[in-house]
Amino acid sequence: MKVTVVGAGAVGASCADNIARKQICDELVIVDIKEGFAEGKAMDLMQTAQLEGFDTKIIGSTGDYSKTAGSTVAVITSGIPRKPGMTREELIGINAGIVKTVAKIILEHSPNCIIVVISNPMDTMTYLALKETGLPKEKIIGMGGALDSARFRYYLSQAIGCSANDLGAMVIGGHGDTTMIPLTRLATYTGTPVSQFLDDDKLQKVAADTMVGGATLTGLLGTSAWYAPGAAGCAVVEAIVRDEKKMIPCCVYLDGEYGQKDICIGVPVIIGKNGWEKIVDIKLNDKEQAAFAKSADAVRSMNNVLSTLSI
Ligand code: 2OP
Repeated sequence: MKVTVVGAGAVGASCADNIARKQICDELVIVDIKEGFAEGKAMDLMQTAQLEGFDTKIIGSTGDYSKTAGSTVAVITSGIPRKPGMTREELIGINAGIVKTVAKIILEHSPNCIIVVISNPMDTMTYLALKETGLPKEKIIGMGGALDSARFRYYLSQAIGCSANDLGAMVIGGHGDTTMIPLTRLATYTGTPVSQFLDDDKLQKVAADTMVGGATLTGLLGTSAWYAPGAAGCAVVEAIVRDEKKMIPCCVYLDGEYGQKDICIGVPVIIGKNGWEKIVDIKLNDKEQAAFAKSADAVRSMNNVLSTLSI
């Protein structure tokens, strides 16, 4: 079983590190455009094998996609990250061309591959990858909801003073500072609604902090985050490779579900060996449904930018 990670930058390396340490595959290929960079990351990671106790073989390649042939899953992290003050959406001009090229080359070498998209603006990059490759919709998954839901659990755990592992919480909608929708109403602390532990003001603050979770880290780090994005990408890969049938909010193509068509946006899906296998139709209240429609409008107007780019 082979997995490919395209992009050996911080997010790609974090994703590869998690995949290797969890022994999700026998062979892990890291590809990057920068001469020697992927080879260096692969060698550095391989030198953790004995320390971490894994046997995954890691191969780095400067742009030679023949090494990725036969991959079951490929994760696309390529492109530029945001700088403080930038939105994810501002990256579209550069990242769209890169994601389009990468998605096509991956499939030339691994026609049955499932693609996990991390590059930003993630919802639009997922849509672009789907349209450009013509892959069945189940085989293209944007990982945003996995990351945003982990951040939601982090902020909830800080506010409640509990373990993030005791929380069930989900973020749907777009992976943007103003488009994501933390579902506070449905969040639970070991089966108990979080509203029994946090008043409305506190819950609203948790939701607001979650929405700008990525921007907060970009401000602190001077570039976008990598540990949680890499781990979220790995969680999606793991659910596919191990056929876990886990429910993870991810960015997938909607064809009428949640009242939306011809768009990739975050909704809860079941992830298994076939990619996303089912969209879970949770009952949103009117306010949540309206927020979802507004989020979809914003994602759709970003998708419309694609036709103005010469890529
Ligand atoms: C983030 O939210 C990189 O989009 C990613 O940190």
